[in-house]
Amino acid sequence: MSEELYNNEVAFELQPKVIDESRQGEALASAHPKNVKSNGKKFYIESYGCQMNFADSEVVASILNSAGFHATTEFIDADLILINTCAIRENAEQRIRHRLQHFRGVKKRKKGALIGVLGCMAERLKEQFLEQEKIVDIVAGPDAYRALPGLIEEAGSGQKAVNVLLSREETYAEISPVRLNSNGITAFISIMRGCDNMCAFCVVPFTRGRERSRDWKSIVAEAKDLYEQGYREVTLLGQNVDSYRYSDDPTLIGKKLLEAKYHEGVVNFAGLMEKVALVAPDLRVRFSTSHPKDMTDDVLHMMARYPNICKYVHLPVQSGNSRILEMMNRTYDRQWYIQRIEAIKRIVPDAAISTDIISGFCSETEEEHQDTLSMMEYVKYSMAYMFVYSERPGTVAAKKYKDDVPEEVKKRRLQEIVDIHRIHALELNKEDVGKIFEVLIEGVSARNNMELYGRNTQNKVIVFPKGDLKPGTYVNVLVTSCTSGTLIGTVVKD
Ligand code: 5AD
Ligand code: SF4
Repeated sequence: MSEELYNNEVAFELQPKVIDESRQGEALASAHPKNVKSNGKKFYIESYGCQMNFADSEVVASILNSAGFHATTEFIDADLILINTCAIRENAEQRIRHRLQHFRGVKKRKKGALIGVLGCMAERLKEQFLEQEKIVDIVAGPDAYRALPGLIEEAGSGQKAVNVLLSREETYAEISPVRLNSNGITAFISIMRGCDNMCAFCVVPFTRGRERSRDWKSIVAEAKDLYEQGYREVTLLGQNVDSYRYSDDPTLIGKKLLEAKYHEGVVNFAGLMEKVALVAPDLRVRFSTSHPKDMTDDVLHMMARYPNICKYVHLPVQSGNSRILEMMNRTYDRQWYIQRIEAIKRIVPDAAISTDIISGFCSETEEEHQDTLSMMEYVKYSMAYMFVYSERPGTVAAKKYKDDVPEEVKKRRLQEIVDIHRIHALELNKEDVGKIFEVLIEGVSARNNMELYGRNTQNKVIVFPKGDLKPGTYVNVLVTSCTSGTLIGTVVKD
């Protein structure tokens, strides 16, 4: 198989945990629950953006199923078309506007068909959306999904329906997500919502609201349920998982909860990881995203203690330069980040590290860009999600700073970042040739149906001959060759 082929495959398999462009616009299907009376209507849902959005679409599907709607993968057939949107960069929004135009025909053909916009772009634009995109009937923000059946009814009676209220409490804790287009082996579990960090470039705190953690008992119950259904990997999702903190005591809120470190009953992220790891030794546990300012050694020790907590940390650096990091309001500097990387390498020496990088943030100089490249040289990321800076209305950066790095400079810097990353990824993969990894088989390779693919604990994709192996099982694979994106191997019989 050619290198190009594998690279394409990896472009699909290894897309970011955070921003999964490969699944952008995927139509999601599910079975309808048997115990709910159907209302004869069908909904179609398409998701864009981060994994959190994909997880939210599964909550939406659950709410709609309970209201009697069936899911369909064909928008032509749908009575209700939903698009779960992303606002993180300008081009994400453009793509969604473009997509909405495709749905115009359905409305013309099918009398009474409704179009709803969900997620971050809905929250950012609110009622404006209805003015800008006349075909839209429903606008619902990330904390308004329980209100969807009511909004649909309202829209059905000819009014435009909007709910963009953000909540301080909503975690959809007890709603059992309907797994959409699932491989039946890996699943995401939202452990918290919102973000309190206020990175200067980021629109998320405005679109997803204040940070709140979900009851750990409902998280563990969801993990158990998934395990019983045959799932073998869960990824705990949050914008900043290290600040997960939950207590049953309703008086422990805000600062009090933060300070109640050793208070009985307060569960932090390390504690949550342990509880999920104990669900079953052969249930893999992953998590995303860690924040360099909050990632504690406790979390790293917990990773080292449990073999089923995967040895992979996604630790967005954004920039390698302390002045830029300060302007970004990341609340750590280059030295601090390096010290966190050292902690990972010391406590979990076999961990792979991935990152997010933004090129061309406001006023970034050539030397400051070089600091990002040298940080990459130092860490050697196994995976990186690399973006040019895109100014978002309403953010701190948009208010305070000029977006003054010319587009072609941003793009050239990004290219340099991408080029270095490729070299590192290949280097790291070459170091794996000759090693044996335990792989959780996820499915049949999209490129060759005689091959299977899965991941090792470091989250690297490994492709190997199918034999009589089945997805959902573990197998030891000897790596025999690689590209910059994939390990290629053969099964080792015990
Ligand atoms: N421009 C470019 N990239 C951004 N990200 C967040 N906001 C922006 C923006 N305005 C990137 C960050 C973040 C990832 C999810 O998206 O790198 O970690
Ligand atoms: Fe945005 Fe920063 Fe929160 Fe991540 S941590 S969602 S980049 S504000």
